[in-house]
Amino acid sequence: MTDNVIVIGSDHAGFPLKQVLRAHLEEKGCDIIDVGTDGTESVDYPDFGAAVAQVLKDGKASRGIVVCGTGIGISIAANRHDWVRAGLCHDTTSARLCRLHNDANVLALGARLIGEEVAKDCVDVFLATEFEGGRHQRRVDKLGFAEST
Ligand code: RB5
Repeated sequence: MTDNVIVIGSDHAGFPLKQVLRAHLEEKGCDIIDVGTDGTESVDYPDFGAAVAQVLKDGKASRGIVVCGTGIGISIAANRHDWVRAGLCHDTTSARLCRLHNDANVLALGARLIGEEVAKDCVDVFLATEFEGGRHQRRVDKLGFAEST
C-alpha cells in the first residue's frame, strides 16, 4: 500500500519549504520519498517535476508535492506527464477544490509566494480531501490521463 507514501520534490527556490513540509509530513506519520533537490545550489525545476512524476508512475507513492519559487514552473513540468494532475495552490480553498473537483494527485506550491504555515495547511487539506466524483469524474476523464494514481 502506498496510501501513506508521499513523494516530494523541489528546485533550489523551493528547497527550504520542501524541508519544512517533509518534517511536517513525517510528524503526521507519512512515509516520504524525497527526490531532491538537496540544497540551495541552482538546479532546473523540470528535472524535479519529472522525478516526482516518475515515482507516481512507478506506483511507489500515492500523492506528490512539488515546490519551486512560484510553483508555476514545477507544476507545468509535472503536468507534462499524462498521469499527473498537479494543482497549483496558494490557499486551503484551492487545495481543497483541486482534490474535490480535479482529483489532483500532485500539490504544487510557490515557496516565494506563500508562508510556511499556509503551505502546511494546504498540504493537510490536500491529503485529507477525497475526490467528489460525479460530474467531476466525466470532466477529469476528458483530460485524457493515461492512468489514475
Ligand atoms: C528559480 O529562480 C525560479 O525560476 C523557479 O523556482 C520557479 O519559480 C519557476 O517557475
